Amino acid sequence: MKTFAIKGNFCYSEDIEKIRCVPNAYLICEDGVCAGLFRELPERYASLPVTDFSDKLIVPGMTDLHLHAPQFAFRGLGMDMELMDWLKTYAFPEEAKYQDLAYADRAYTQFADSLRRSATTRAAVFATLHVPATELLMEKMENSGLISYVGKVNMDRNGPEYLCEISAQASLEATERWITDTQSKFKRTRPILTPRFIPSCTDELMHGLRRLVEKYHLPVQSHLSENFSEIEFVQSLCHDSKFYGDAYDRYGLFGGDHPCIMAHCVHSGEAEIALIKKNGVFAAHSPLSNANLSSGAAPVGKLFREGVNVALASDIAAGETENLFRSVSAAIRASKLRWRLVDQKIYPLTADQAFHIATVGGGRFFGKVGSFAEGYEFDAIVIDDSTLPHPQELGLHERLERALYLADDRHLCAKYVAGNRLF
Ligand code: GUN
Ligand code: FE
Repeated sequence: MKTFAIKGNFCYSEDIEKIRCVPNAYLICEDGVCAGLFRELPERYASLPVTDFSDKLIVPGMTDLHLHAPQFAFRGLGMDMELMDWLKTYAFPEEAKYQDLAYADRAYTQFADSLRRSATTRAAVFATLHVPATELLMEKMENSGLISYVGKVNMDRNGPEYLCEISAQASLEATERWITDTQSKFKRTRPILTPRFIPSCTDELMHGLRRLVEKYHLPVQSHLSENFSEIEFVQSLCHDSKFYGDAYDRYGLFGGDHPCIMAHCVHSGEAEIALIKKNGVFAAHSPLSNANLSSGAAPVGKLFREGVNVALASDIAAGETENLFRSVSAAIRASKLRWRLVDQKIYPLTADQAFHIATVGGGRFFGKVGSFAEGYEFDAIVIDDSTLPHPQELGLHERLERALYLADDRHLCAKYVAGNRLF
């Protein structure tokens, strides 16, 4: 791959507390990796092609570590229920449509196009239980230029008849066929094991998925401690478990020896948080979803300060938009409500911390991603904030802070993933 220089105003998360802003600087990208950020272009790079973004803001791309591609169709609809009723009324009927490849083609084209234009450069995506439609989604994600994990969903109990695999064995066979079909088919798109959540998966299925983790060395994604009725249901299904996360851990599907993403963690208690931390599980914080489905305000400040891997997630369609700027500001607001109403000892997230979670926090699931420090893969978005007028002078940090609250895809004028320019 080629080496090139980018010029403009750079802002990135220097550590968990602080955004570093470097005006009018040059970033060198060598084979897709950041090779240095300089205030003057060093002599040894003088012959490189330079793309000049003049006064625009250049920031690391964001990672959306949990979203449902088939639910994109009904984003912004049906927010009047809690999780279990919402699944039955809205999510399951829509997901059943992906049996039809022509429908999946139309819907997934719209999904992948929207993600390509968004601030998201990396993602971990749920598909449905249907293998052909999941493979189609993987092709579309590959062509979008994003780097992503995509999961064929496993669900063999407690679903409606029209969206439930007929047995654990049938689910496992379909999953293994899908893994062997796709695990080395794409450059940017990889399979991830995706038991929907414990209510949807029999013991036999979960034990089988553990065998697939070992055989194919795959990561795992699922849902954890999102809603009170859900948590009660899990406890009734797994009597011996000490808490929800412990139930996943007993199946061997809660990190430790494999990368693992758990969405939500709204009601995770001390013991669950300790296990999340010990096993290196990524908590995918989804503040828009948690408010829309009245799930609650997650202890994101606590998770973050205790050193858990915290990432940001849109959780489309329980979260209404793929625009992660909105999730960043929602994460700050959720942490403030929790501070005021639930736990006065855990201070709210600052903008710098929320930005860290959106970039480095989720990027870490993919390796050295989410920063412009040397050695990080070059994922970037270029923000043109000139259409957000202001009469006063603003510094770079203030301009970025405003963008976190106000920007969407209309303010993005360029995007790079691992050094490839998407637009
Ligand atoms: N738990 C199980 N399935 C889902 C889903 O599709 N969305 C959300 N938000 N939570 C879930
Ligand atoms: Fe979800």
